[in-house]
Amino acid sequence: MGGGSREHALAHTLHREGAAVFVAPGNAGTGAFARNLPIAVSDASALVAAAREHAIDLVVVGPEGPLVAGLADVLREAGIATFGPSGAAARLEASKIFMKEFLARHAIPTAGFAAFDDAEAAVAHLRLVGRPLVVKADGLAAGKGVVVPKSVDEACEAVVSFMRDRLHGEAGARIVLEEFLPGEEASFHVLCDGSRYVALPAAQDHKRVRDNDEGPNTGGMGAYAPAPVITEAVKAKVLANVVEPTLRGMAAEGNPFRGVLFVGLMIEDGEPRVLEFNVRFGDPETCVLMPIYEGHWRTLLMGAATGSLPAELPEPRAVHALGVVLAADGYPEKVITGDAIDGLDANVDHVIVHHAGTREEAGKVLTSGGRVLCVAAEGATLEEARDRAYARVETVRFRGEHHRTDIGARALGTLPQA
Ligand code: AMP
Ligand code: GLY
Repeated sequence: MGGGSREHALAHTLHREGAAVFVAPGNAGTGAFARNLPIAVSDASALVAAAREHAIDLVVVGPEGPLVAGLADVLREAGIATFGPSGAAARLEASKIFMKEFLARHAIPTAGFAAFDDAEAAVAHLRLVGRPLVVKADGLAAGKGVVVPKSVDEACEAVVSFMRDRLHGEAGARIVLEEFLPGEEASFHVLCDGSRYVALPAAQDHKRVRDNDEGPNTGGMGAYAPAPVITEAVKAKVLANVVEPTLRGMAAEGNPFRGVLFVGLMIEDGEPRVLEFNVRFGDPETCVLMPIYEGHWRTLLMGAATGSLPAELPEPRAVHALGVVLAADGYPEKVITGDAIDGLDANVDHVIVHHAGTREEAGKVLTSGGRVLCVAAEGATLEEARDRAYARVETVRFRGEHHRTDIGARALGTLPQA
């Protein structure tokens, strides 16, 4: 369920593994190999009816919105095997305040924070502390509810825009102010079946819209995996200090976690700290994680859904994968859509053009969202994956298209000198 490049990657992988795949609602890309069902992910009763009608063995819920609304509970109550956490467990993503208080209760490393439901008190706190604390809307805001300000004044403006002007609606009625964490980010995905877990190789996303990590935050402009920032030593710390206490804590509080826990980490001097939890796969991270365990996803997703995860992951394929997001004019601010996309038809070995914000009209594929495509390639090395992905990016065109040219630069050692 869903319609982004994450769902394209999941659906395409399951299709290649031999499953008959239905996608609700899907996009122009998923329609080429799967059957799109015109049902919104918010329409739980229509989704249950469709799952019954098509005798669906496994539902994989892509985005956080329906999970937070309790879709996995509804599907499971209807007897349908479902990959995704309960609404109660999805609070790890739905409320930053719940998440930060959970981390504090279980002594899990993260940035220091304070929560506010009053703009004046938040502004007074910022003035008192005298540092530009990171401002986060409590609720879901499609990756746009976080401002990392350069000054106290900018932080205060963000507080006012969230709390008083309701830039993100009720999601910003309460906020978290937290300490800025320096370091390098990583996306760490863990499949969980309620008691057991297996950890996937780390991926790295690129959150800012422009090269060299400039411009505003986005949902993610490109990713690669495996990400070398998570060494074996860091991974051991992430598992012992973050993943295990989180899964134990959730179970102890009556909300065992089933599905994929995506831990957003900041790594500084080998020490991991939690930036955020997501209760679903990352987008675009999924496009670069799927190839590593291609051939095993049906078993893994079904195992997580039904409490029967294997004790260990199968041997990973020895591949590197890298994906570049092609965004629409104006993204992540005022997005302009409806432009025709050229260059989609070619089939290039080792490359998949994942669709995200696309739709089909009179035989043409048009842009229909901020992030339009994710062009992902695999290779024996990260360089090879990058070169294949960017070669394909050059052949796709639409008005206003923009993308980052430096995906993978941290791992490839090609960052510009400061
Ligand atoms: P979040 O949704 O909480 O992960 O925040 C979105 C992005 O903002 C993260 O991926 C980071 O790039 C950045 N960010 C969030 N919190 C912090 C922090 N405390 N220090 C530095 N950067 C942060
Ligand atoms: N790419 C980050 C996310 O999916 O939240």
